[in-house]
Amino acid sequence: MGAMWETLFAAIGFLTVAILELRAVVFIWRHFLSPSASLSKYKGSWAVVTGASSGIGAGLSRALAARGVNVALIARGKGEKLEAVAAECKALGVQTAVLPFDFATADDEQYAALARMLSELHPSILVNNVGVNVDFPTHFSQMEDADMERIVTVNVSAANKMTRMLLPGMVESKKGIVLFMSSSAGSFAPGPLLGPYTASKAYMDQLAIAISGEVARDGVTVHSVAPFFVESAMAKMRRSFTVPDADTFARATLRMIGGPTRMSPYWPHGIMAAVLGVLPMKMQVKYVADLHEGLRKRAIRKRDRLAKQR
Ligand SMILES: NC(=O)c1ccc[n+]([C@@H]2O[C@H](COP(=O)([O-])OP(=O)(O)OC[C@H]3O[C@@H](n4cnc5c(N)ncnc54)[C@H](OP(=O)(O)O)[C@@H]3O)[C@@H](O)[C@H]2O)c1
Repeated sequence: MGAMWETLFAAIGFLTVAILELRAVVFIWRHFLSPSASLSKYKGSWAVVTGASSGIGAGLSRALAARGVNVALIARGKGEKLEAVAAECKALGVQTAVLPFDFATADDEQYAALARMLSELHPSILVNNVGVNVDFPTHFSQMEDADMERIVTVNVSAANKMTRMLLPGMVESKKGIVLFMSSSAGSFAPGPLLGPYTASKAYMDQLAIAISGEVARDGVTVHSVAPFFVESAMAKMRRSFTVPDADTFARATLRMIGGPTRMSPYWPHGIMAAVLGVLPMKMQVKYVADLHEGLRKRAIRKRDRLAKQR
C-alpha cells in the first residue's frame, strides 16, 4: 500500500513539474522566441482604431502605421490630440482618416453616417479600444447612475456596434483582425470598487472569445487583449517595469497577433496573470479591495487638496 501511495505522489509531482515546465517553455516561446506576427497582407489596407487620440489607442495606431497599415482614427474631438496622432502616423508613410465621434452620445443616425464613411475604406482591422472608467475606485452603492451608463455605452455598446459594422466585410473578404481591449480586470483579476468597469471588460473578453470561434474559418483573427497597467491618462500610473508606455505595449500586442485568443502581450503582465491564476479568488478579491480602498483614499485627499487651493 505504502509503495502505491509513494508511486502516486511521485507521479503527481512529476506531472505538476512537467506542466509548469511546459507552461514556462510556452511563455518564453510566445514572448521572446516566436517570430513576430506578419501583417504584410494588411499593408496598404485600413485599420479602424476607436479611442485613438491618446494612450493605448494612439500607441496601437502608431504601431499599425509602422507596419504599413493605413489608420482611421476615432475619438471625440477633431481637436489637436487626434490630429497629432494622425500626423505621427502619416510621418510613418501611411494614409490616415480623422473621424470625430462621441460613443457616449451617438445615435443610430450618427452610427449609420460613420458606417457609410468607413465602408469606403473597406477596413480589414478593427481595434475596439475606446473605454472609460470612474475617476477613482468607488463603492458600487455610491456610484452615479450616469457613470454606470456611460461605462456600458462606451465600453460595451460601442464595441458591439463597431464590430457588427465592420466584421461582415472582413468575413466576406476572408481577411481580418479584430482586437477587443479588455483588461486584466475581468480577465485575470477581480475588480472590487470598480465593478461596472471590470464587468464591462469581462464582457469584452468573453465577446472576443465567442466571436473568435465564429469567424476563425473565415480568415478573421479575434483577440481579447488584457493588459495590467499601461501608462495613460486613464491609468494615472507612472511608467515602470510593470507599467509600460503605450508604444511598447502596442508593439508587444501586434507581435502576438495570431497567438492566444486572450493575450496579455507585455511579458511582465504575462507573469502577473500566471501568478494571479494560482491564487484563490477570495485572496485576490481581498488584495484588490485593499489596494483600491487605498487608491480611493489617496484620490479623495488629492481632490480635496486641489479644491482648497482653488
Ligand atoms: N491604461 C491601462 O492601464 C489599461 C489597462 C487595462 C485596459 N485598458 C483599456 O484600454 C483602453 C484604452 O485605455 P487608455 O488607458 O489608453 O485610456 P485613455 O488614455 O484615457 O484613452 C481613451 C481614449 O478613448 C477616447 N474616448 C473617451 N471617451 C470617448 C467617447 N465618449 N467617444 C469617443 N472616444 C472617447 C479618448 O479620446 P477623447 O477624450 O479625445 O475622446 C482616448 O482617445 C480602454 O478600453 C481601457 O479600458 C487600459
